[in-house]
Amino acid sequence: MGIGNDRSPFLCAISPLNTNDSPCTRTNADTIRTMSTQRLISSSPTSEIEDQTNWALRPQSLDEYIGQSELIERILIAVQAVQARQNGKDDSEPREHLEHVLLHGPPGLGKTTLAHVIASELGTNLHVTSGPALARGTDLVAALTRLGPGDVLFIDEIHRLPIAVEEFIYPAMEDFKIDVCLDTGLNARTVQIKCAPFTLLGATTRAGLLSSPMRSRFGLAHHLKYYSQDDLVHIVRRSSGLLQMSTPDDDALSTIASRSRGTPRIANRLLRRIRDYAQVRHDGQINTQIVDDALNLEGIDQLGLDELDRSYLSTIYSVFNGGPVGLEAISATMNEDSGTLEDVVEPYLLQIGFLARTKRGRQITPRGCEHLGLKPIHTEPIQSII
Ligand code: ADE
Repeated sequence: MGIGNDRSPFLCAISPLNTNDSPCTRTNADTIRTMSTQRLISSSPTSEIEDQTNWALRPQSLDEYIGQSELIERILIAVQAVQARQNGKDDSEPREHLEHVLLHGPPGLGKTTLAHVIASELGTNLHVTSGPALARGTDLVAALTRLGPGDVLFIDEIHRLPIAVEEFIYPAMEDFKIDVCLDTGLNARTVQIKCAPFTLLGATTRAGLLSSPMRSRFGLAHHLKYYSQDDLVHIVRRSSGLLQMSTPDDDALSTIASRSRGTPRIANRLLRRIRDYAQVRHDGQINTQIVDDALNLEGIDQLGLDELDRSYLSTIYSVFNGGPVGLEAISATMNEDSGTLEDVVEPYLLQIGFLARTKRGRQITPRGCEHLGLKPIHTEPIQSII
């Protein structure tokens, strides 16, 4: 099937609450990216079915949430304060709402999960949409007028909200009203539409791309960090219970955690793949040897790198003498989309110190060379720009 021609853009239903997977908003670059994100260690969901399985493994309350302890504590205090203020009110008074929350950080760390947990703790409804789905002011008006008092509006990829829509959202965030301009020229007039007091929960992987007026309107902003090895062991143990499998032994749990790139979504995906392997090739019980065999079969190494990561690093090493080299040159050599390399491959390699981004381009570090079993080319310290 040709890229981008599998669905006609004229046939899709236009809904303001489309998710970012909507065919209406998907571009060719997104489609290419989708193909490269079908990796076992992708931090984005790889299919709708996976999304549903992940759903069953997600924590339902702040109590069940493992990791991100500072953020959970801040949210718990804010939620309890709202509940305490609400308890002192009678039904005729406006409902209390939580301050607007901005969550930023790499994909797969639980921003959507937290949105569900927060709405459930507040006892209100969650409405999910994304920056690209809110293409026009009218999309935002439709989304805002659907909200009930105290509801949570989750806008994923909020950095992709068009500027014109961003302007609309400011009065809604501050005063729960929207100024809609009707007609043009001499007939132009503005009508004010009220919406219920709500909480905007914005999520982004690119906080640097948010405008400062937007950033300043969030009362609570937090960066989600990669999960620790201990947290991931906890998460995998809990998930194995929910999947009704016999719990892997401690060593096996630890091996799964160390190959999950600090990301619960990856840990849960690896667990399901290992469960299949253990069932088909063994008696279902999981030990370290079985984890190793199952993940080796998938090409996932001890640090959770896959073939694409290793091929990226070895291209820099062998074709460009270790770098520095520009992203476009690597992308052309590998015949891989540069956006995919930047968004999907590089973040984790930077995080574990195998790659440096310098003013002159990308460079493999001595640790990166060592992991590939290659002799380091550069031994002098690298002036990284990150
Ligand atoms: N499953 C996925 N993420 C989780 C988390 N942070 N806590 C508990 N279970 C999870």
